[in-house]
Amino acid sequence: MRTVRTLHRRCAIVVTLFVLLHVVNHAAAIGGIGAHLRFMEAARAVYRQPLLEALLLLCVMGQAGSGLWLLHAGWRGRPGWLAWLQALSGAYLALFLLIHVTAVLAGRAVLDLDTNVHFAAAGLQVWPYQLFFVPYYFLALAAVFAHLGCALARRAAPPGRALIVALPLGMGVLLASLVLAALMGGLAPYEVPQAYKETYAAR
Ligand code: HEM
Repeated sequence: MRTVRTLHRRCAIVVTLFVLLHVVNHAAAIGGIGAHLRFMEAARAVYRQPLLEALLLLCVMGQAGSGLWLLHAGWRGRPGWLAWLQALSGAYLALFLLIHVTAVLAGRAVLDLDTNVHFAAAGLQVWPYQLFFVPYYFLALAAVFAHLGCALARRAAPPGRALIVALPLGMGVLLASLVLAALMGGLAPYEVPQAYKETYAAR
């Protein structure tokens, strides 16, 4: 149990660094799709370095696998709402990461697409796929903030814990709403190029 927890914390360092960069990248879409594309181009120069990307993908697998193991191992003895919120937001992130990273790698290797913002936004602009992708991305962003908020709150005294979780969670909900609105063309006109939309139409 202790070894799995240590693995979870070590992988979290690399995954959290990438996720912060990734979330800032998505936040750039609020300023326009051009800003998102430019930010990703610069960020890719770092995380697409083969060695760094391999390390990131290994840590994603370690993080998701150890997280699901910890969830299962502590199923009966979890004390209170904070431990449950941390476990459930972590469980969602583990499943999200497995689907999300597989989809991105398949988009590159099988569909031969540049997996940029258009790749993600296509699922948000082709009916009826929004029914899946809106809650899927919304919950992922909210869960990142809830999970990190819980990790901070567990180190604080009980009276302030709810606030330490509520503040980041509120920020996550606001950010998720704005990012999704931007990718759906709700903040400024934005239509995903046809080549990306066709990956849905063909199914
Ligand atoms: C609105 C929410 C999100 C959207 C639209 C989104 C979109 C994308 C896109 C387009 C890529 C491909 C990047 C590239 O080709 O360089 C990607 C990669 C990735 N995303 Fe997300 N993402 C979201 C949230 C998240 C969250 C919450 C996490 C983690 C908890 C995450 C983890 C990853 C990882 C690990 C990769 C693989 C990086 C790589 O090796 O290329 N994403 N995402």
